[in-house]
Amino acid sequence: MLAVLQMELQHLPGFRDFYPEDRAWLNYIFECWRTTAANFGFAEYDGPTLESTDLYKKKSGEELKSQLFRFEDQGGRDVCLRPEMTPTLARLVAARERDFKKPIKWFSISPFFRFEKPQKGRLREFYQINCDLIGDNSLASDAELISLAINLLRGFGLTSRDFSVRLSNRNLWSDFLKRHDVPVDRTAEFLSIIDKLGREEETRLAQKLTAFNLTLDQIHSFLATPTDQLPGFEELFREFRWRGVEDFCELDLTIVRGLDYYSGLVFELFDRGRENRALGGGGRYDKLIEVISDGSVDLPAAGFAIGDVVLRNFLEELPHTRALAAERMVKRALRGYIVIASESQRSEAVKLATRLREAGISVDFPLEATKVGKQFQTAESLGTQYAVVVGQEWPQVRLKNLRTREESVVLEAELENNLKLEN
Ligand code: HAM
Repeated sequence: MLAVLQMELQHLPGFRDFYPEDRAWLNYIFECWRTTAANFGFAEYDGPTLESTDLYKKKSGEELKSQLFRFEDQGGRDVCLRPEMTPTLARLVAARERDFKKPIKWFSISPFFRFEKPQKGRLREFYQINCDLIGDNSLASDAELISLAINLLRGFGLTSRDFSVRLSNRNLWSDFLKRHDVPVDRTAEFLSIIDKLGREEETRLAQKLTAFNLTLDQIHSFLATPTDQLPGFEELFREFRWRGVEDFCELDLTIVRGLDYYSGLVFELFDRGRENRALGGGGRYDKLIEVISDGSVDLPAAGFAIGDVVLRNFLEELPHTRALAAERMVKRALRGYIVIASESQRSEAVKLATRLREAGISVDFPLEATKVGKQFQTAESLGTQYAVVVGQEWPQVRLKNLRTREESVVLEAELENNLKLEN
């Protein structure tokens, strides 16, 4: 019986409950993301959580297809919970392409679902911010997106000592394969080997490469190509310098990305210590909108997503980002707690709370007669900044700053100003 009850109290594996502390973290992450994305001129959009499974059959890649939360709805449709945003975005844009000025710069913050093995940094429901720039295939738009990705992380106090963007380009690998006479239709199979570099045993990888008549040495010497010999990278780094983000960016040709729709530049964001999985990733997908619209709309596009799970783990690991998060979350805590020291003044206290709330100042008070000491304890445990003591001295009240311990006596009519002004 107890075991059954315990099971009922548990959430499903890979899913999360958001108790207030966790929700505060999520809100902190979302607010910071929203501010930065808007700062770069991106507009917010969203799509449905449930999509037709067909949407992911075309270009999302084998791995993602095997991770779908897929079922038949009561109307007999083959549907799934969205595992990512990009195909939905391509659908939205293709449907009303003429209505939007180019380039389209959109972002969304939404939940996604993938049936993965739950582990550190990998869950079955997670949030992502997706930022995409559609209708422009210039290096400036790539630089703008990468700069946005960097700033979305800098907003949390992360610096170039903490994380980097690893850049690559799938076209370089396509050229490499052409030079080594590997047929185009085996590109995805080949890239999945490159994707495993550093994560799978070298002997196993070498063995897989023999199927392509290639050796690990050939791969390693290609990986060591200097930046100035790679087409486009010099210009891209110049764009990064203008935006002050060059210290965050480095070349890493092992980045190839697991999704099939990427067509050129690809990148991933990693913590420098490589303790965590990727914080985010993205790239150029110039042909996806054409494929999703069956050829009716052809627009170049690029974008990326950053997930909340790896990010929160990372922000909690580092002392400086943990402290900044705590400071910002406290700022959003209750501004005042009204301590009712004399029950005969309850009606005045409740009216005062109402006035303050109407003035946009967050306050709370005890719902029934409670010892003054207990009320102070409650105020402290809620992280409140001020205690406002209402007692026999009404309309004078005692204002106590719970952080500095300073106290003053003010008239209730002046309270609103005091609470608004003081820090
Ligand atoms: P992705 O690399 O599959 O890209 O996901 C981006 C980020 O989402 C990952 O780096 C990770 O932080 C987070 N993430 C992915 N799966 C999970 C999971 N199971 N649990 C927790 N976090 C996860 C995409 O989704 C592309 N659609 C991004 C994109 C947008 N490309 C162009 N535009």
